[in-house]
Amino acid sequence: MRQAVRTGTAPGALGAPLPSGKEKLEAVRQMFDEVAPRYELVNSVMTFGMDRSWRRQTINALALHAGSSILDLACGTGDLVRELRSRGYEAIGLDLSEGMLRAAREVAAPLVVGDAAVLPFATGSFDGVVSGFALRNIADLQASLDECARITKSLGRLALLEVDRPSNPMVRVGHDVWFRHGVPIIGSLLSVREAYRYLPRSVEYLPSTAELAVMLEKAGYTHVEHRSLLFGTVQIVTATRLPNDSRPATSHQS
Ligand SMILES: C[S@@+](CC[C@H](N)C(=O)[O-])C[C@H]1O[C@@H](n2cnc3c(N)ncnc32)[C@H](O)[C@@H]1O
Repeated sequence: MRQAVRTGTAPGALGAPLPSGKEKLEAVRQMFDEVAPRYELVNSVMTFGMDRSWRRQTINALALHAGSSILDLACGTGDLVRELRSRGYEAIGLDLSEGMLRAAREVAAPLVVGDAAVLPFATGSFDGVVSGFALRNIADLQASLDECARITKSLGRLALLEVDRPSNPMVRVGHDVWFRHGVPIIGSLLSVREAYRYLPRSVEYLPSTAELAVMLEKAGYTHVEHRSLLFGTVQIVTATRLPNDSRPATSHQS
């Protein structure tokens, strides 16, 4: 399902407080450093291997030709970077966690340690940005989207892959059981239990479809589109970078 996104009502807070700001940044960095060695294995088990197809669809959704320069924001162990390179894109990965980057195997691309909110790249230096399963982990999402817009060329593209909250009540119950109980069990068997108890809770950080659209438009994107995968449990959000002369005055335009 694919739809244009318009502003609407934001969901309420979902539970006990989670860290924010610098505290969140450090907690996330530490957690991904810990889970890095088995991150890809757990991911593959947790999604029954479907994450590979979702990543391919995310790259398709960019709608940019081979040879385009793409930043994989919060690249983790480099799954999207590898796929981009294999399809002829000039890809670079950036991530907060040195542990995740160290665990990146067979990635024939530059991988940079950094914070999405302060990107170490020149203005207008990429044709597009992709990101996989990172939105809810990023401490300052608006600043990071502003940075994505800044480093992207006029009319460049953005494609974000993330988990989603299914709207169908039956699907939501099944998904909650899997995400809140199944995932921590897999995490405790294959990796660090605490981290995989945190991951389902991290959905509390996820902006609604409408909120994310507003954030993207504020950053300087247009044509925000949302598509649902796997009964609304996964989403791909795409957007086009506005030309410089039509960007909102409040967005970062250095
Ligand atoms: C769930 S993993 C996703 C990794 C990879 N993109 C994938 O598709 O498998 C989330 C990643 O976001 C990174 N991350 C979280 N906050 C970040 C930030 N502020 N800047 C850069 N990377 C960040 C984490 O270190 C982690 O590698």
